[in-house]
Amino acid sequence: MATPRLARAAARLGLLAAATAGGTAARADDVDAGRVRAQACVACHGPLGLSSQPEVPHLAGQPADYLKAQLRAFRSGARKNEVMSLMARDLGDADIDQLAAWFSAVRVQAQPPR
Ligand code: HEC
Repeated sequence: MATPRLARAAARLGLLAAATAGGTAARADDVDAGRVRAQACVACHGPLGLSSQPEVPHLAGQPADYLKAQLRAFRSGARKNEVMSLMARDLGDADIDQLAAWFSAVRVQAQPPR
């Protein structure tokens, strides 16, 4: 798996991410379950939701409500994308809550350009 390579790439970009199970409104057990479930997303979105591919958006640190809305839109067909429509098709509401809890709990620190 390319996980260490992606993490190094993210570090080079100055995007420092740290996973945390604490934090916001998300329930800690949702975050933990989401961490496991999100293994299915790593290949494209990166190990912590920081993508290194230009056509794949970052998920790390996005608001949980935003992530849930996007996943529901892919699932319903309101938002269409060849890959994500398939990825979201069979997700249940609990799956979506857990995935959103995990990615929103990843803390992202942005730094200004040098
Ligand atoms: C094979 C590659 C691939 C995999 C695997 C994948 N995604 Fe995606 N994802 C994409 C691409 C490409 C987009 C951009 C779609 C578009 O342009 O509309 C995207 C977009 C998204 C978005 C919308 C983000 C935004 O800001 O608009 C969410 C949320 C998302 N993915 C969640 C997930 C989750 C959760 C998983 C794992 C269950 C996952 N993705 C797995 C490729 C992937």
